[in-house]
Amino acid sequence: MELNVITLFPEMVKQTLSYGVIGKAIESGLLKLNCFNPREFAENKHNRVDDKPFGGGAGMVMMYDPLVRTLEHISTKTETGMVVFLSPQGEKLQQAHCNEWAGLSHMTLVCGRYEGVDQRFIDQHVDKEISIGDYVISGGEMAACVVIDAVARQQQGVLGSDESAETDSFMNGKLGYPQYTRSEILGQSGVPSVLLSGHHEAIKQWRDAQSLAITKRKRPDLLEGTSES
Ligand SMILES: C[S@@+](CC[C@H](N)C(=O)[O-])C[C@H]1O[C@@H](n2cnc3c(N)ncnc32)[C@H](O)[C@@H]1O
Repeated sequence: MELNVITLFPEMVKQTLSYGVIGKAIESGLLKLNCFNPREFAENKHNRVDDKPFGGGAGMVMMYDPLVRTLEHISTKTETGMVVFLSPQGEKLQQAHCNEWAGLSHMTLVCGRYEGVDQRFIDQHVDKEISIGDYVISGGEMAACVVIDAVARQQQGVLGSDESAETDSFMNGKLGYPQYTRSEILGQSGVPSVLLSGHHEAIKQWRDAQSLAITKRKRPDLLEGTSES
């Protein structure tokens, strides 16, 4: 999968994604990460990418032209694929989006800064607006990294053989089951005996039951409308 990120802070995105399984996938070429800085496509005296909002008000707005030129430049190098604008006003990111997008060959993520981006860029060039939650952060970079990590880990080969996304929370519509590792006794607490039994079917049944119970307790909304609610 090839991921293009339009950002005023390319190093922030590259650095953040250079760790762990995602970092390894980029190093091995399984994921290709390209960052493009709209400042390089600002055809004005001081490479300005932002200007005051029409109508007045606080802050600056990212200008249309440098962003469009960045997209055009990407098209000369590779495919843009689906263009996603990270925005608190977007559809809230869900596991289902990530599972679906893991099948895409290309994706372009646009990171806003300041008060946001000229609405005409969004209207004319963005396929999807995505939010990482109902709060406002200072720029789209961290949101883009969240999307990229969550999508990339669903791609074949990104997780090592000893890791699996299958049993993660949300993958089957429920939260994940509790995990234990050494030591067998910590303070007053032991490990549930079934996990030490070596009985695979019993362990699976226990984990399924735990997953359901935890979901009922912590996120009953996930079960609404299902036979398990
Ligand atoms: C300070 S915010 C601008 C918020 C904008 N004035 C608004 O109220 O919608 C700057 C940029 O951060 C990014 N951003 C902020 N919160 C976000 C969120 N919850 N999800 C995704 N991106 C976010 C967006 O790219 C946004 O353009």
